[in-house]
Amino acid sequence: MIDDDDNTPDSDDPEVKAALDKQETKDVAEGPAAALAHDADPAVVVVTAPGHHDDDGDDGDDEDDEVPGELYGVLAEFDSPGALVRAARKVKDAGYTEFDCYSPFPVHGIDEAMGIKRTILPLLVFGGGITGTVGGMFLQWWMNAYDWPWNVGGKPTWSIPANIPIAYETTILLSVLTTFFGMWILNKLPQVWHPFFKLDRFLRASDDGFLLGIEARDKRFDQARTTELLVKAGATGVDPCHLDSDPDRRKLPTFLYGVIVVTTILALIPLALIAKARATKSNKPHYHIFEDMDFQPKAKSDAPFDAFADGRANRGEIAGTVARGSRNDDTAFHYGLQNGQWLTGWPSVPTVQPTPELMKRGQARYDIYCAPCHGFDGQGHGTVPERVKESGGLYAPQNLVDPVKGVVEQPNGQLFNTISNGRNTMLGYAGQIPVADRWAIILYVRALQRSANPGGPR
Ligand code: HEC
Repeated sequence: MIDDDDNTPDSDDPEVKAALDKQETKDVAEGPAAALAHDADPAVVVVTAPGHHDDDGDDGDDEDDEVPGELYGVLAEFDSPGALVRAARKVKDAGYTEFDCYSPFPVHGIDEAMGIKRTILPLLVFGGGITGTVGGMFLQWWMNAYDWPWNVGGKPTWSIPANIPIAYETTILLSVLTTFFGMWILNKLPQVWHPFFKLDRFLRASDDGFLLGIEARDKRFDQARTTELLVKAGATGVDPCHLDSDPDRRKLPTFLYGVIVVTTILALIPLALIAKARATKSNKPHYHIFEDMDFQPKAKSDAPFDAFADGRANRGEIAGTVARGSRNDDTAFHYGLQNGQWLTGWPSVPTVQPTPELMKRGQARYDIYCAPCHGFDGQGHGTVPERVKESGGLYAPQNLVDPVKGVVEQPNGQLFNTISNGRNTMLGYAGQIPVADRWAIILYVRALQRSANPGGPR
C-alpha cells in the first residue's frame, strides 16, 4: 500500500489521490514553506504523506534534523463541529476504537457519534455513597453500642434516628470523594503530556480546530488507509504523529525532578517552623494574626474600664442577689431546716402554700424533672431505669410512694434537701429547679403518695 520510493500512498479514491498528488507536486515545486502555507487554505487538503522523510530536513512539523520515532497515530482537522461529528461516526462505523476527538468547546452528540459508552461514574458514586452510609452507621454502632457503650440519660446506645446525621455526612463525604477522584482517574487525568502536543495543528484544538486523532495501536490502523478514510470523511488536513525517536526524551525532563524536590522542601518549611516553635522557648511576644479578636473592647471584672464614671468594670453586688452557697436567713424555705432539724410542715412563704395552683405547678415540674427516673406514678419505673435495664445494667431510683421504702415518712425538709442536693446516684437539682418549684414538687409527691396508699399513713 505504501510505496516509500515515490512517497505516494495507494488510494482508490480519485479525490484523495488527486489531493495527495497535488500536495506532493507542490511540495517539490514550491518547497516546504509553500506546503505549510496550505494549512491556512481550507480548499487544499494538506496531507503529510505516510513515511515521508524529508530530505531537506524539514517536513513542517519536525523542527530538528532527526529521524522520527515510532508512529503514534494520525491527527485530522475538520472545519466545523458538525464535520467532526460526522467524521467521528464514520471512523467508529469503520470499526476503529482507539481514537479521540479534540475541540475548543464541548460538541453535542460527539460521544454518541464516537460510540463512547455512558460513564460508570454514577455507579461508582453510588457505591461510594452506600459505603459511606454503611461505614457511618457501623462506626457509630461500634463506638457507641459495642466498644464503649455509655448510658446518657437512659437513651438507647444504638438508635437509627440519632445516627442519621453522621451517616448522612459520611455518605456525602464518600460520594464527593468518589466523584472527584473517579472523574480524574476515569479521564486519565492529570495528563501533562501527549504525543499530539508536538503537532502545530493540535494547538488549534483550543482555538478553532476540530480534531480527530487515531492511534496506531488500533487494530484497524493502517497509515494510508486511515488517512484516506479521514480525508474522505472531510478532513481539511491530516498529519502523522511520530513519537520521539529517542526514548529518553519521552521521559519527564530531569529539571522537573529538581523542581519537585525543591517545592517539597519549601512546603515543609512552615511545618518545620511550627515544630521548632513547639520545642523551643522564646521571650518575644505573641504574633497576633487577628488583632481585633485577641484584643476585644470588653469589660473584664477587676480591670479598668472607662465607660463607667468610677473607671471600674466591676459593678459590685446587685441588690437582692443571693450567691449560690451563701447562707440565707429563711432556712426553712431555702434549706428545709428548722432549728437544725428537717422542716416537717411548710415554709411560711406565701408563694409555697399548699394550693391547687401550687399542686398543678408541682405536677408539671415533677413530670419534667422527676418522672424520667421515678416514673409518673413515683414507683421508680421511669424510662431511664427501664432503658438501663434493657442494656443489662441496673439503675434503681427510689420508689417514692411505697411506705416500706421510707420516703413516705420523710419530713418535707428532707425531701427538699434530696431534690436540692441529690442523694447517692441521684444528682441534685438546685441548679435547675428554683426553690419555690421544689416545694411545689414536694406537694405533688405527697399527693402521689396518698393516691398510692388510700387510707394509709398520710
Ligand atoms: C436521673 C434520675 C433521677 C431523677 C431525674 C430524679 N431522681 Fe430521685 N432518685 C434517683 C435515684 C437513682 C435514687 C436512689 C438514690 C440512692 O441510691 O439512694 C433517687 C432517690 C430519690 C429519693 C429518695 C432519697 C432517700 O432518702 O432515699 C427521693 C425523695 C427522690 N429521689 C426524689 C426525686 C425528686 C422529687 C425528683 C425530681 C425533682 C427526682 N428524685 C429526680 C434518681 C433520680
